[in-house]
Amino acid sequence: MDFTDRPRRLRTDGIRPLVSETTLDATDLVAPVFVDATTDERVPIESMPGHERVPVAEATARVAEVLETGVEAVIVFGIPESKDAEGSRAYAEDGVVQKAVRQITAETDAYVITDVCLCEYTDHGHCGILTSGASESWERHRRDEVVEDHAEDDPNLTVENDPTLDLLSKTAVSHAEAGADMVAPSSMTDGMVGAIREGLDDAGFSDIPIMSYAAKYESAFYGPFRDAADGAPAFGDRRHYQMDPANAREAMREVALDVEQGADVLMVKPGLPYLDIVRAIRETWDHPVAAYNVSGEYAMLHAAAEKGWLDLDEVARESLLSMKRAGADLIITYFAESVAEQLSTGR
Ligand code: PBG
Repeated sequence: MDFTDRPRRLRTDGIRPLVSETTLDATDLVAPVFVDATTDERVPIESMPGHERVPVAEATARVAEVLETGVEAVIVFGIPESKDAEGSRAYAEDGVVQKAVRQITAETDAYVITDVCLCEYTDHGHCGILTSGASESWERHRRDEVVEDHAEDDPNLTVENDPTLDLLSKTAVSHAEAGADMVAPSSMTDGMVGAIREGLDDAGFSDIPIMSYAAKYESAFYGPFRDAADGAPAFGDRRHYQMDPANAREAMREVALDVEQGADVLMVKPGLPYLDIVRAIRETWDHPVAAYNVSGEYAMLHAAAEKGWLDLDEVARESLLSMKRAGADLIITYFAESVAEQLSTGR
């Protein structure tokens, strides 16, 4: 036995911490918070154990719970009291996110990020407004109650890109006016970062950064979130605006465009199945990179743990650590609170 290189020398308990390359810290994590204008009570989200939709009156209390664990940042999602074709409650001054953010920022020190999108606010559930042909088709489908069966095949049902930009920009500005520290556009509308940057600058918010969902894939891992935020498309899917899971080079184009338009933080979503994209972006740009450990990634670990097949705490930590290792600086995750608690108690 004559080999000099024995990596196992550096794996004793004494030296492992000294040579570990990656660390996970509560301050790397962002906790999602769901605020629901349709309820007076907290409502558990079935497919996301431990998470709830909270009424506006509980928004501050919910964020205080997050802060208690050592996590310092939240991303706020809203479920509006009503929906319409233009998603008008997304940019209403008294909208659910706007009201919640006003309270949270007045009453806590949390760093507050808001998700900027229309899908929770449009009655058709898409991330932008529909073409006029699409609106008519949608009305017809809805009237005839054949949405489920036939709408998917209707070529008229598409989301308009450019007219959506103005609404996204208005939404971002209304969030900034409510006190948001950062806005995070997630609609995959071409030009969204530029439009939002311009809107924010014109309104006097040139200091508010944009975290772009730059490489957001059309993923089946968003299922539980769509239950949580009531944002599933009423017909069809999002494949005409979110990215094809088959594509990696295209992610670099998407990111380059967002960087050009002024994105401050670059996000990849989902996380675990797209670590190659996290790494590629890390190597190409100096901007902070965020990974979104999405609802399906959370739900699948919980489901396996419930069956006793996986140790939840350990797989949660390992998942997040792998995102750091791939190059993420920050991670948006439903595990934020539980992992932060594990880290602080040294479990
Ligand atoms: C809104 C949005 C979605 C998610 C974050 N922002 C839903 C979607 O694009 O369908 C998904 C988050 C998750 O699954 O945890 N556009």
